[in-house]
Amino acid sequence: MAGNRTLTMLKPDAVKAGNIGPILAMMNDAGFRIVAMKMTHLTTDKAKQFYAVHAERPFYGELVEFMTSGPIVAAILEKDNAVEDFRKLIGATNPADAAPGTIRAKYATSVGENAVHGSDSDENAAIEGAFHFGGTETFA
Ligand code: RTP
Ligand code: MG
Repeated sequence: MAGNRTLTMLKPDAVKAGNIGPILAMMNDAGFRIVAMKMTHLTTDKAKQFYAVHAERPFYGELVEFMTSGPIVAAILEKDNAVEDFRKLIGATNPADAAPGTIRAKYATSVGENAVHGSDSDENAAIEGAFHFGGTETFA
């Protein structure tokens, strides 16, 4: 059975552009409930760790640099079938391929600076949730 939580980050481009409010409203309107949330600034070590799965990819350095370029907002979201439904709401990695009405279609500017992160599996949602939040920072 699909899990009911996913981890999102509003990336530095979205925060810098003043889009925290409208993006959170889209998540809210799509039925996601916030059970944990914080604004934070990733260190280089933390960003490398978060995206360690991409360490061998050519864009890794650029990705770490971007993710540490300013504050982010991290949140755990709850909804039935959270991971899959949230990936649909954010749209394709490259905004040029993102379906109309998705968060990336509206707010991403490039494949690198694409406004939001969404976990890609229930297993990673749990790992990424624990990466950003302790037990006393998460509210059922
Ligand atoms: P995310 O993990 O941030 O939700 O994004 P995603 O699953 O849609 O894409 P993924 O393949 O996991 O890539 C992670 C992030 O790396 C940056 N990227 N840059 N320059 C490039 O070709 C490239 N490809 C990926 C993006 O910020 C992407 O979201
Ligand atoms: Mg990913």
